[in-house]
Amino acid sequence: MRILAATNNQDKLIEFHRILEPLGISLVTPSDLDIEIQVPETGETFKENARIKAQAFHRESGLPCVADDSGLCVDALDGRPGVDTANYCGEDATYPERMSALLEELKDVPPERRTAKFVSVICCVMDEETVFYSEGVCEGSIGIAPAGEGGFGYDPIFVVGGKTMAERSAEDKDMLSHRGKSLRAFAKLLEEQI
Ligand code: IMP
Repeated sequence: MRILAATNNQDKLIEFHRILEPLGISLVTPSDLDIEIQVPETGETFKENARIKAQAFHRESGLPCVADDSGLCVDALDGRPGVDTANYCGEDATYPERMSALLEELKDVPPERRTAKFVSVICCVMDEETVFYSEGVCEGSIGIAPAGEGGFGYDPIFVVGGKTMAERSAEDKDMLSHRGKSLRAFAKLLEEQI
């Protein structure tokens, strides 16, 4: 069965392939099919946004589609940036700018109160009637300064078990990460579907 990864985010695509291929699920990408759509994330929850993305790519391709909506929820900021993580600090900001802004917001917050979690919700649209979801959460905290070269996005300031995600190997990140957990749960649900 061909399943389309419903994302234009190249960093997510790398993780989708890396996590799902060893589980026997190989995905096609929008560029494999010459699909170029931008899907506005107008939902108020990770679940709504994941569904909006999966459904939009399904309508375009006619294929089963799997989408991820994810974000960083910081306890000291009452769960922000949450669903708005992608646009935190403005649509066109770079990741170094976004991380600086977050560190600035937290500058007076002591280490023990810098707890945060990364959430990933996966939505798979098989056809108009068959839609299922999985979720993964990774608990951690926000560091004092960026560290490490791996991963992407906010990984240099997201600390889990004493190291940032950017200081970990890809295998290590996938074992611990929100997306590793949500995609492994997705793989199990898919097996039950087919
Ligand atoms: P969205 O799912 O397209 O709404 O975007 C999620 C936002 O969270 C983007 O800014 C991503 O860069 C960020 N993000 C999602 N997953 C990760 C991750 O594994 N590491 C670092 N940043 C992430």
